[in-house]
Amino acid sequence: MSTVLEKPLNFSSERRRGERRKHTRAAASSATVPREDRQTVGAAAVENPRMRCTDINVHYGSKHAVKNVTLDIGQHEVMAMIGPSGCGKSTFLRCLNRMNDTIDNCRVTGNIWLDGLNVNDRAIDVVPLRAKVGMVFQKPNPFPKSIYENIAFGPRIHGLARNKTDLDEIVVNSLQNAGLWQEVKDQLDQPGTSLSGGQQQRLCIARAIAVNPEVILMDEPCSALDPIATAVIENLMSELCAEYSIVIVTHSMQQAARVSHRTAYFHLGDLIEVGTTESVFMNPLHQLTEDYITGRFG
Ligand SMILES: Nc1ncnc2c1ncn2[C@@H]1O[C@H](COP(=O)(O)OP(=O)(O)O)[C@@H](O)[C@H]1O
Ligand SMILES: [Mg+2]
Repeated sequence: MSTVLEKPLNFSSERRRGERRKHTRAAASSATVPREDRQTVGAAAVENPRMRCTDINVHYGSKHAVKNVTLDIGQHEVMAMIGPSGCGKSTFLRCLNRMNDTIDNCRVTGNIWLDGLNVNDRAIDVVPLRAKVGMVFQKPNPFPKSIYENIAFGPRIHGLARNKTDLDEIVVNSLQNAGLWQEVKDQLDQPGTSLSGGQQQRLCIARAIAVNPEVILMDEPCSALDPIATAVIENLMSELCAEYSIVIVTHSMQQAARVSHRTAYFHLGDLIEVGTTESVFMNPLHQLTEDYITGRFG
């Protein structure tokens, strides 16, 4: 695991045990605690974050899917989001590049800062935003175009290449960075859909890389892949975080433990706990986190 991360709050183990007891008690009586009083435990903030989200609420009509979430995404970190199905992980992830805009009855409030840009400001242009904050979906979704064109499409519409030589260079670099170049260099004119599932997912990662992102969002990117293709993508994430921040939603706690620096645990729309992956798995502060990671529910 890389150590490029800014260290979140540094609890001593004694302090941590004290915190744990306190929050365990709070959780035990959470049914009687008003929702507004529930606080995320752990360290939601990091120094010098890549993205800073404050008081994020998401409603689908009357359904309150994400509740008052405040969370930073660090530079060069892999942040994992875990929690039972329906707890709001994908919904929160989609806030980070305004993908919820595409859902009719979805309303997002709160601030999401990417450098000086408020992502949640209705006035911003989401096209460049989605280049800066790219998305890789659960099911690989190459365009119905050649391997070359899958990568060249974005740089062309964003005006990143002055000529064909530039464009070729971006295509080669992106495929190399996504660990796919050696496998496809002799078949760039073949359809992207002719590749295996794992290769298609790396093609989608290369496509995201091609437009110079700062953050790459991945929503269960390996759930349609076999264990070998999964391992390839996981290794790739460890390399990519040297250049980008990666936010991954995963239903696999083993995957979160293997690839991420920090882990955020969601439950029924609340961000319950966030901290270094090691601390969340080895010494969870909240009873709900402990119940989930020990397999008591979820
Ligand atoms: N398009 C939608 N319309 C209405 N409700 C939705 C929509 N998408 C998700 N939800 C609801 O929002 C909650 C959070 O969903 P989601 O973010 O998909 O959870 P997760 O990714 O953690 O499984 C769930 O209760 C889900 O049913
Ligand atoms: Mg989801």
